[in-house]
Amino acid sequence: RTVYVNGDYLPEEEAKVSVFDRGFLFADGVYEVTSVLGGKLIDFPGHARRLARSLGELDMKMPVPEDDLLEIHRELVRANGIGDGLVYLQVTRGAADRDFAYPEHPVQTMVLFTQAKPGLADAPMARSGMKVISIEDQRWGRRDIKTVQLLYPSMGKMMAKAAGCDDAWMVEDGHVTEGTSNNAYIVKDGAIVTRQLGTEILHGITRAAVLRFAREAQMKVEERPFTIAEAQQAEEAFITSASAFVMPVVEIDGEKVGTGTPGPVARRLREIYIEESR
Ligand code: PDD
Repeated sequence: RTVYVNGDYLPEEEAKVSVFDRGFLFADGVYEVTSVLGGKLIDFPGHARRLARSLGELDMKMPVPEDDLLEIHRELVRANGIGDGLVYLQVTRGAADRDFAYPEHPVQTMVLFTQAKPGLADAPMARSGMKVISIEDQRWGRRDIKTVQLLYPSMGKMMAKAAGCDDAWMVEDGHVTEGTSNNAYIVKDGAIVTRQLGTEILHGITRAAVLRFAREAQMKVEERPFTIAEAQQAEEAFITSASAFVMPVVEIDGEKVGTGTPGPVARRLREIYIEESR
């Protein structure tokens, strides 16, 4: 695989980042995941915009202009022959003597790599639906910044696996925030319900696209918090993310949602999203 590190395209074995990198020592960095479908990047401008915002919130700057970033994405997709898959991008504050305070003159690190995911659009889980458990949301308070601080979501995923499930929905003050690496939705009285934007959740690029398509298709959308009990009694549940698109959720904490099979709203939104992304 060819990867990108600070201006160079290299075989992955030759790519190096300092042991003093603040991404490694402090999780002082942000990332983006952009999906590739049939060789085409999905929603690149949205991801670039969110990257700029995450960096800004942490007093970091865009390492290269957006046009150059797009070129790097395209070059990696080409070099690695990615049909379906994703491009991962990470920017950290770079290497500096270990100190909690930011360095005065940071030299940021930027790394990109690809992951091939053949058949991304026909994931078997889209037909079976996924099972989730609920866990307390113990992440920090600025979840709108896409930092590489992913240990708690990782633990949540392991708790889900241990329970024989696929993912965990995190709950704060009695209401669902989001999944470990996705935004959460239910369908109630025909309306699509998902938590409103704020510092409690990541502002999903897929979320924005899916809500736009839903409104264009005259579907009702309510942006408000919901509880696990409400979700268990909902007609449908689903998640969205760059890598999963729209994925139905059929079970929450052992309770079937609706008929316990992927529902029509999630299936339709998934179809529209994939259609629009091709
Ligand atoms: N995860 N919420 C969280 C906590 C996430 O980590 C993600 C993305 C999302 C969905 O955002 P988007 O639609 O922009 O992908 C919501 C990525 C895919 C990941 O960590 O792999």
